[in-house]
Amino acid sequence: MILGKPLLTTQQIQKKVEELANKISKDYSGKDLVVIGILKGAFMFFSDIVRAIKVPITIDFIMASSYVKTETSGEVKIYYDVREPLSDKDVLLVDDIIDSGITLNYVRESILTKNPKSLKICIFLDKKERRMVKVPLDYVGFEIPNEYVVGYGLDYDSKFRNLPYVSVFKKET
Ligand code: IMP
Ligand code: MG
Repeated sequence: MILGKPLLTTQQIQKKVEELANKISKDYSGKDLVVIGILKGAFMFFSDIVRAIKVPITIDFIMASSYVKTETSGEVKIYYDVREPLSDKDVLLVDDIIDSGITLNYVRESILTKNPKSLKICIFLDKKERRMVKVPLDYVGFEIPNEYVVGYGLDYDSKFRNLPYVSVFKKET
């Protein structure tokens, strides 16, 4: 297993986080915003972006994942659900990466059953080429090519989440 050089540096990431947070702060000024992070992958992006958002917010988490290692199985499970009431709240879902779209679509539909006033999605990385299910994305950090990446919350086999940047991950041949 090898790590390539950073695809996105800490500096590039922090600049993007500021941009997204400024946009979110403008869009939600005067609203009752609940920001929900999807664990585990979004934890680092989430903690950076909520610190850069300048309007009052409520924070919660949902833990969801599809089963297998690098390939998406299509089966999604929610391990921990949101506890804050969402009815009549403006909700922003924050996730690390969208690939097939299956996970995010599942979580989105689950949140919608809680009757929020509005629901938007903020995604750190978009692997557009791989999309199988269409999911509306409102704030996108970076579009990336179809390569497996790790770091800044993203894992391979539960490792590399703590890297402060994003790197391409390749199996040695
Ligand atoms: P989807 O359901 O296919 O959109 O997959 C989304 C989930 O798969 C993400 O939340 C990640 O947990 C994982 N995933 C997809 N691509 C990558 C990657 O390149 N690196 C690390 N995890 C990934
Ligand atoms: Mg995830």
